[in-house]
Formats: sequence, structure tokens, C-alpha cells
Amino acid sequence: MATPTDPSPDLDAAYGLHSPSDSVRLYRAWAASYDSGFAQRTGYLLPGHVAGAFVEAGGQGPVLDVGAGTGLLAARLADFSVSPVDGVDISAEMLTEAIAKSVYRQTFLADLTAPLPMADSGYCGIVSSGTFTQGHVGPAAFDELLRIAAPGAVFALSINVAVFKPCGFADKLDALRGQICRVTLAEAPIYAAPDPDHAADRAMILCFTKR
Ligand SMILES: C[S@@+](CC[C@H](N)C(=O)[O-])C[C@H]1O[C@@H](n2cnc3c(N)ncnc32)[C@H](O)[C@@H]1O
Repeated sequence: MATPTDPSPDLDAAYGLHSPSDSVRLYRAWAASYDSGFAQRTGYLLPGHVAGAFVEAGGQGPVLDVGAGTGLLAARLADFSVSPVDGVDISAEMLTEAIAKSVYRQTFLADLTAPLPMADSGYCGIVSSGTFTQGHVGPAAFDELLRIAAPGAVFALSINVAVFKPCGFADKLDALRGQICRVTLAEAPIYAAPDPDHAADRAMILCFTKR
């Protein structure tokens, strides 16, 4: 439940985060209204873009949804009959909303900037929408995600264009060249009905396969 010291939840607050504990506070306050007050109002497109890219790249379950939030991406994967899907997020309140949708086999409350509790090589797919963005999770998390992915696992991740080069995602992809193949990048709009301040917000939809 939100506390009086939690920030008011909106897009500008989300882009202004600096640390995992900032995320815990913001998303605690945002969880209950995230789907209706944010995703529906903005015409939030990333879960659909990522699910489509994952299926197009030949992705199959079991899949881990990284920064699962309220479960919007798993719901889109269910449209394509992709299963089972697990979710990981740092916000207990966001995961509570996700669990209520009954789209996850299992959820993990964990920080993606730290070692993850999952075993090596357990996932045939890794997906994420909206989590690799300003003030959220950076490219260092790719190392743990590759550890828990099986050889041949398909990754489909959105990365906000504003952080792609400045926060080191492009350099990280270069550094991982020996561990990944079939890399594709496509730019896409994040919102169908953005407010004027966010009309130009775009994300890279990054797909690759673990060697
Ligand atoms: C913009 S929301 C996206 C949620 C969902 N994937 C979607 O597309 O609607 C970002 C999510 O990342 C989670 N998050 C932020 N930092 C995190 C971290 N360090 N570890 C795990 N999850 C994190 C937040 O709690 C939040 O649920």
C-alpha cells in the first residue's frame, strides 16, 4: 500500500528515478492505477511490440518476464499461446497486480541489479517491456539474464532510445558479441496516445539469441 512519503506516480516520476529503492517507492504508489491510469490512458504499446517480436524470432517457453510489473507483457504473450511465463520484479505491489491476472506460472521478488535467485540455463526465452529505461535497469543486468538463459534462448527486450547509447546498451551488445547471435534492432513508438511531453518517446526493440 502507498505511504504518505511515496512520490506521486506518473511518467515524469518514472523517468526521474535514480536507484532500485526509488523504484520500490514509486511502483508501490503506482501499482493500483498503473493499468487504467497509465497504460490505457497513454495507449502503452511496448508489451505488444515485445510479445510480437519474441514470437516472430521463434521464441518459446519457459519464458522469464523481466520487470514484469502488473503483467501486461505476459498477457500479450498469452494471446500468442506462449507458456509458461515467470515474472521477476522489485515491486511487491506490482507483482500482486500481476498475480491477479493469472498469467504467470511463478513470480520472483528480486532486484535485477543484483544476482538473481534463478538457476543457470532454465529459460528458453527472456522478455522485457519498459524496464530498460531512464533510472530503472541498465545493461549490466544482461550478464545475469544470460546466465539463467539456456543455449539457444531467444531474448526480446525494449530499451528506451534515450538510454540506448548514453547508458551503455550499445557498448554492451558489442561486448557480448561472442555470447549472442541473430541480433536485430527495430525502433518503435512507446505510446499510441502520448501527452505532448512524451509524443516523441521511442524504444529500441532488441532481439538476440544466446549462443
Ligand atoms: C515501466 S514498468 C514496466 C512494467 C511492465 N513490464 C510493463 O511493460 O507494463 C518498470 C518495472 O520495472 C520494475 N523495476 C524497476 N527497477 C527494477 C529492479 N532494479 N529490479 C527489478 N525490477 C525493477 C518496476 O518495479 C516496474 O514494475
